[in-house]
Amino acid sequence: MSNEPVSAGPTPFERLAGEAGVRALVDRFYDLMDLEPHFAGIRRLHPSTLDGSRDKLFWFLCGWLGGPNHYVERFGHPRLRARHLPYAIGIAERDQWMACMMQAMEEHQVDQALAARLTESFFGTADWMRNKGC
Ligand code: HEM
Repeated sequence: MSNEPVSAGPTPFERLAGEAGVRALVDRFYDLMDLEPHFAGIRRLHPSTLDGSRDKLFWFLCGWLGGPNHYVERFGHPRLRARHLPYAIGIAERDQWMACMMQAMEEHQVDQALAARLTESFFGTADWMRNKGC
């Protein structure tokens, strides 16, 4: 019998082609947020330039998807819910964020099984960020 640990298979980070893939997904996400009128509700919560937001989401997602922990190395524990408290986030904002990310994944041609799994995980995190009633 082999003593090799059971391989868990490639991480989502690896399946997205590593840092270059995650960066491209994040860039598409924020391009869409900037361009599409139906994401204006969440766009206006962000700073006028999205450069910092792009970097932070990229650093965070690398670790969250099973890759290097760039965000934690720079800022410590993400405390995501606390960091979102300055922004009024309800169901509409959650759903816009999700729609924007789902469109970015589709345009980036993330394979369907991975996209379905990530959609579920993103939804859990986005829903947990809600801090107002509607
Ligand atoms: C639910 C809807 C959401 C809205 C409306 C929202 C909005 C925002 C805004 C306005 C910022 C500040 C941007 C900046 O400082 O440049 C931010 C930061 C951030 N968001 Fe979200 N967000 C949402 C969901 C999420 C989700 C689901 C994730 C992760 C999967 C996420 C990850 C982050 C990260 C890592 C930051 C940077 C935090 C920091 O270091 O200050 N957000 N978000």
